[in-house]
Amino acid sequence: MTITVKRVAVVPGDGIGPEVTEEAVGVLERVGETHGVRLELKHFDWGADKFLSEGVTLPEGALEMLSTEFDAVLSGAFGDPRVPSNQHAEDILLGMRRGLDLYINLRPVRLLHERLTPLRGRAVGDINFVVFRENTEGAYCGAGGFLKRGTPDEVATQEEFNTRKGVERIVVAAFEYARGSGRRRVTMCDKSNVQRFGGDLWQRVFKEVAARYPEIEANHQYADATAMFMVLNPAQFDVLVTNNLFGDILTDLGAALQGGLGLASSGNIHPGRVSLFEPVHGSAPPLAGKRQANPAGAILSAGLMLEYLGHAEAAGAVERAVRECVAAGETTRDLGGALSTPEAGERVRARIRG
Ligand code: NAD
Ligand code: IPM
Ligand code: MN
Repeated sequence: MTITVKRVAVVPGDGIGPEVTEEAVGVLERVGETHGVRLELKHFDWGADKFLSEGVTLPEGALEMLSTEFDAVLSGAFGDPRVPSNQHAEDILLGMRRGLDLYINLRPVRLLHERLTPLRGRAVGDINFVVFRENTEGAYCGAGGFLKRGTPDEVATQEEFNTRKGVERIVVAAFEYARGSGRRRVTMCDKSNVQRFGGDLWQRVFKEVAARYPEIEANHQYADATAMFMVLNPAQFDVLVTNNLFGDILTDLGAALQGGLGLASSGNIHPGRVSLFEPVHGSAPPLAGKRQANPAGAILSAGLMLEYLGHAEAAGAVERAVRECVAAGETTRDLGGALSTPEAGERVRARIRG
């Protein structure tokens, strides 16, 4: 049997990023023992400290290096109060998403235990869907400008790009995922009642693509209604596909439904290419260094990465271990437990079995 060693770039980043990433890395080491997963990890110090001391955000040649020398990237979070412009986070995180063309931002919304949701009377099966957030364009294209900045006549424009190719590939990815995973419904949400042009393109593409998947129900909602339905009737969602900005906002709501940002995981994916896995949460500056951050989102993101790298069994074992910890109350305080970040990581590792 040939054992292929996958190469993973680890970019812990800022704030609580390094603390939670350390626990996720520990989990990857653990699945080496329990499941024979062989990974070669290499750490990179990209983040606020490097930016402040060297003026470097995403080093030159980094994207090329990642795409030729690595199979995946595992990152923590980027954002630091010392960098109010958020320049380094934009260059590093959005730089990787755009520069590596990671057009799928896959964000599962899955309730691991009913006591975690703030919604009353919901069972775990009621909150179980996957968001496909477009990840390379929309409102994140960085286009816009000022006219007469700082004067009373100031004008600021903020543009949004929706390309035929970009919309089609994320909608196709959502339907392909639904088909491959036995999900029955794909919901697309937009604001086509107001955003006439981009919304029109999304609507046309959605209908066209949906026709190729007759066994899957295609459902359209306006994004404001989606926010409401996520709270009132989350069980209706199976796969939710949307643009970059609505996907960002709705997945924080999704995180809340499953127990908070500490638990939410994500993959920034271009199938077949180096892809990036990271918790949905940010660098949480007030929590940094306090050993209070929940490492579960980072650990579950490492689980998504394992699945992407072809280690489905190990990925399943990681998720099971997190679920068992939650059920046993072995969690950090955001989920009602009393464990520190490293203790919570250790409990997950102890529950991973081969
Ligand atoms: P945040 O996700 O850092 O924090 C929001 C809230 O959730 C805070 O109350 C925080 O304490 C809590 N929280 C987050 N992660 C947690 C964890 N693992 N365990 C327990 N509690 C947790 O979002 P924010 O405060 O809006 O942003 C802080 C910084 O992070 C900003 O600079 C922002 O731009 C950046 N950010 C980065 C990413 C990323 O790198 N992917 C994502 C979101 C925000
Ligand atoms: C996320 C974050 C990022 C985003 C920020 C930090 C640029 O909120 O990953 O959800 O808006 O995409
Ligand atoms: Mn976000």
